[in-house]
Amino acid sequence: MRYTPLSAAFYTKNRANFAAAMAPKSLAVFNSNDTYPISADSTLPFEQHRDLFYLTGVDQEETILILFPDAVEANHREILFVRETNPHIAVWEGPKLTKTQAQALTGIQTVYWVHEFEKVFFELAAQCDCLYFNKNEHYRAAVETETREDRFIAWAKKQYPAHQVGKSNPILQRLRAVKDPEEITQIQTACDITEKGFRRILSFVKPGVWEYEIEAEYAHAFIKERSKGFAYTPIIASGNNANILHYIENKGQCQAGDLLLMDVAAEYGNYSSDMTRTIPVLGRFTPRQRAVYEAVLRVKKAATKLLKPGVLWKEYHQEVGEIMTAELLILNLLDKADVQNQTEALPAYKKYFMHGTSHHMGLDTHDYGLVLEPTAANMVFTVEPGIYIPEEGFGVRLEDDVVIQAQGEPLNLMKNIPIEPDEIEALMND
Ligand code: GLY
Ligand code: MN
Ligand code: MN
Repeated sequence: MRYTPLSAAFYTKNRANFAAAMAPKSLAVFNSNDTYPISADSTLPFEQHRDLFYLTGVDQEETILILFPDAVEANHREILFVRETNPHIAVWEGPKLTKTQAQALTGIQTVYWVHEFEKVFFELAAQCDCLYFNKNEHYRAAVETETREDRFIAWAKKQYPAHQVGKSNPILQRLRAVKDPEEITQIQTACDITEKGFRRILSFVKPGVWEYEIEAEYAHAFIKERSKGFAYTPIIASGNNANILHYIENKGQCQAGDLLLMDVAAEYGNYSSDMTRTIPVLGRFTPRQRAVYEAVLRVKKAATKLLKPGVLWKEYHQEVGEIMTAELLILNLLDKADVQNQTEALPAYKKYFMHGTSHHMGLDTHDYGLVLEPTAANMVFTVEPGIYIPEEGFGVRLEDDVVIQAQGEPLNLMKNIPIEPDEIEALMND
């Protein structure tokens, strides 16, 4: 791995927290992701399953974790299975974790080779009454492929039909939503790398530059800093491309007078950052562009202040919607009749601001977090209002990542990334 890993104490604590939430005589299993095929012998780069990573720190394929707090033998309460290497793998793929390295990384003392899993699992299944399965229940999940976890669940249900089953996912959603100081440091590093990319492109953007050239500048800045690269597929959208919310082709050419919306950020050590900035291609906003930009910035600042412990997701979004509505009236994008005729299901502001204001952010860019439960200190959220005006040929979104504090305003992990319009103009005209 090219990043600095978190401490074994962090992973040990995560497993202890998970175990404490399990019912008596239960056993939980967590599988790594598959390495996904493309075609012929090509594969996508391996990405570890974030739950397994959160509980172990292991960033290697073919890894399994068992948690069985009530195991009769103490050395079976936490068991890690890793891929056994051989001279062929060593030559073609390089070193894999040894058992000693796996122990040091994870804090788990009992490490077996993954081909021993079925034998060990058979022995432990006889001691437990309930098997905890980890089915992805993220509120935005839409998965068509069968994961390694799915295959394991199907196999285990067939082999052990008399066991009760339990749900791991809500426990993980609750635990992962609240970040440890070590995780916040890792996310801050990702944000700082993102800052380097943004500052790099401020002097690069001018009329005639292609969106993919800007993407390449970011990639250079990120990878140079020990990031794998983008935390998510970047959106580099000039002019009206900004009004396609998931525009990822990045194939347009920046024109004089365009605004350029960039939703682009680095990962670091499997932690995301998530940033959006909107800048004028010429280095100066037109008065209208600036008016819309300042409105979005005001909404972002007001929304950030609302993020305190105990806030309910739905109410927060309604409140931000009201703030946005007031701005859209001032900008003459909405009139009083639009607001009078709106319904709860379709508020008038949705015409210009059609996505959510915030999401949890962490190991996944759209991270875990149970959105029906109130917010808590040390949750990390994005704040990302936008106004999209196809009829005027531009869209503005601004997005920072913030940490909810026990008291006071959230900590902005992107406070060093320029956002005030005067600063953006000054930096672009240096
Ligand atoms: N970059 C994805 C998002 O902002 O949610
Ligand atoms: Mn984003
Ligand atoms: Mn976001």
